[in-house]
Amino acid sequence: MSTISSATSSNLDLDSKRLQVKHLLDPKDSNTPDGTDVIQGLTKTPKSIPPRYFYDDRGSLFFEQICELPEYYPTRTEAAILEQYAREIANSTGACELVELGSGSSTKTRLLLSAYESLGYPLSYVPIDVSAGILQESAKRLLLDYTSLQVCGLVATYERALEQLAPSTLGKRTIFFLGSTLGNLTQLECDRFFARVKAALAPGDYFLLGIDLQKPINILEPAYNDSQGVTAAFNLNMLQHLNWRFQGNFDLSLFEHRAFYNQSEAQIEMHLVSKRSHSVSLDRLDLTVNFEEGETILTEISRKFDLQQMEKYLQTQGLKPVRIWTDPKQWFGLVLSQMH
Ligand code: TRP
Repeated sequence: MSTISSATSSNLDLDSKRLQVKHLLDPKDSNTPDGTDVIQGLTKTPKSIPPRYFYDDRGSLFFEQICELPEYYPTRTEAAILEQYAREIANSTGACELVELGSGSSTKTRLLLSAYESLGYPLSYVPIDVSAGILQESAKRLLLDYTSLQVCGLVATYERALEQLAPSTLGKRTIFFLGSTLGNLTQLECDRFFARVKAALAPGDYFLLGIDLQKPINILEPAYNDSQGVTAAFNLNMLQHLNWRFQGNFDLSLFEHRAFYNQSEAQIEMHLVSKRSHSVSLDRLDLTVNFEEGETILTEISRKFDLQQMEKYLQTQGLKPVRIWTDPKQWFGLVLSQMH
């Protein structure tokens, strides 16, 4: 079922043994969505669209811009923690295979790889991402900079990749999941996610989790309502993506971006609000959707965490918290836990 391809870039030919990429996407996965999830989301009340429709090519570019925005503190705060503590992390786990869920451009990964390298550990990296292009490109760049690195990338959803991970090449394994992506899962999805993670860990293996922490609303809300309107464009781009993919006629000027912090749920909620009553059709899905004035579509949640609660939660999942690192303002946390 899976295919294996090696690096083709000429300056890597000599090193192609150091790069393997396996494709594990099946027809039900995000490359060829059939739209049943869109129909489900748009025909229930309240309406929603699955977050994966954020990430077409334009969406991925918008997201990279979001990470650089002055108001969007999570990316740079997490990177600063890694810059300061990567050696301590490497010291805590010892030599191990590094598995990254949602590796993207692997920018923060470099901080970890450098730390493991400087301690003289062998480097074996397993990036997992649904985007084959980004995964290949960033893996090749890593191989140029880390001359003893072995990369075995998986183009796959987290679920599938975790299911099919081969035993660690270096004995121990550390799975890391950065960027507070965990916060984009509902509690139920989160429980299911941890079941998969545990299945991919042996006793003594590690899990490194990056989470955005609860903080005043006047810091949280601007991070999702930036003054340049990039987050709004990112959110609205989802409708464009649906138009393109399912032959739709969403008029983007009839919707506006709305993101706010729901205190009682401790989560940012991102919506698209219909400015007036109108209907939209998605021809390829044989679907017509009616919107009331002011009706909203939920596109994403971003949960904000409490470190002590997270420690307890990890414990209930059979993961023992080993160490926690934060920034001076305690805006973001990195939690290292170990499988019992
Ligand atoms: N994991 C990121 C977060 O929750 C994702 C994100 C950032 C995001 N900004 C966004 C998702 C705007 C949708 C819209 O912070």
